[in-house]
Amino acid sequence: MTADAQSAFASYRDEALAAIASAGSEDEIEAVRVEFLGKKRGRLKDLQALLGQASAEDRPALGQTFNQVRTEVQGALESRQDALARPVEAVSAIDVTVPGKRPRIGRRHPLTKTMDDFKDIVSRMGFEVATGPELEDDHHNFVALNIPPVHPARDPLDNFYLATAGVGGDDDAVLMRSQTSTVQIRVMENTSPPVRIVSLGRCYRPDTIDATHHCMFHQMEGLMVDEDVTMADLKTVLKQFATAFLGDDVSVRFRPSFFPFTEPSVEVDVLWRDRWLELGGAGMVDPNVLQHVGYDPEQVTGFAFGLGIERFCMMRYQVTDIRRFFENDLRFLDQF
Ligand code: PHE
Repeated sequence: MTADAQSAFASYRDEALAAIASAGSEDEIEAVRVEFLGKKRGRLKDLQALLGQASAEDRPALGQTFNQVRTEVQGALESRQDALARPVEAVSAIDVTVPGKRPRIGRRHPLTKTMDDFKDIVSRMGFEVATGPELEDDHHNFVALNIPPVHPARDPLDNFYLATAGVGGDDDAVLMRSQTSTVQIRVMENTSPPVRIVSLGRCYRPDTIDATHHCMFHQMEGLMVDEDVTMADLKTVLKQFATAFLGDDVSVRFRPSFFPFTEPSVEVDVLWRDRWLELGGAGMVDPNVLQHVGYDPEQVTGFAFGLGIERFCMMRYQVTDIRRFFENDLRFLDQF
């Protein structure tokens, strides 16, 4: 009798679990539930009846088995119900044969890349990178650079003065810096010679915007001050720099020019692939400028240069319109 009951429990358990596992829909699992666990006519009732017929002696052990079997079948049924209740589309909508989407990888802006290259090259020549503010005062943009109060470079038509502050010639004038030469002054004010720095950054001038001019552009300023620094050092540094960046052996030529803060002053051109291209301005730091920051012009001399970064970048990558750099058009930027 006990053995019969035990095997009836076991086969109930096996059949119930098999039926649960093979139920493929919510309707099917419901039918399985009714058959095996239904309150009215389910097969569990037959097992309960067997329990009732057992002797008082056998009943505790049988009861325990009965409870175990019921709990196991109920648990299996519930988890199958859960699984079948989940929306089927969510699974079948994944088509594993569809080709993947290549993630879009960001890249540096061509000007950032050019500036990083510049820094690499000049740091190999012993120059450190200095920075200065884009919003400047009259002192650093003009006075300390030997640009007197009445000078065309201070013209409000050539500079972005802040409306609330004074304009050209006023001590408290504030403007978006028109050149990176301001950083020469800031560095010399805070360090004693020798100095060997570059400073790369934005400059602002209210130029009419066209293919080669913009109201915002970048310069790399260079400054070297030490005992016996000469024009030959300037030319050597610029030639080595241009050769390293352009990758060919280039020639550098100086044309006489004028800047209030250098004497003599030159325009720098580079011969690259049979064309002379303008790089920027340069010269020997004017003794007045050295004196102004507390250097002794009898002890030290220096050279300075200011190169247009856009121009270099356009040359190297054959970009014909400076405006492309500032439009954020991915068709352009993706090419670098
Ligand atoms: N600051 C000058 C300009 O913007 C360039 C320059 C820098 C010239 C350093 C001489 C020395 O045109």
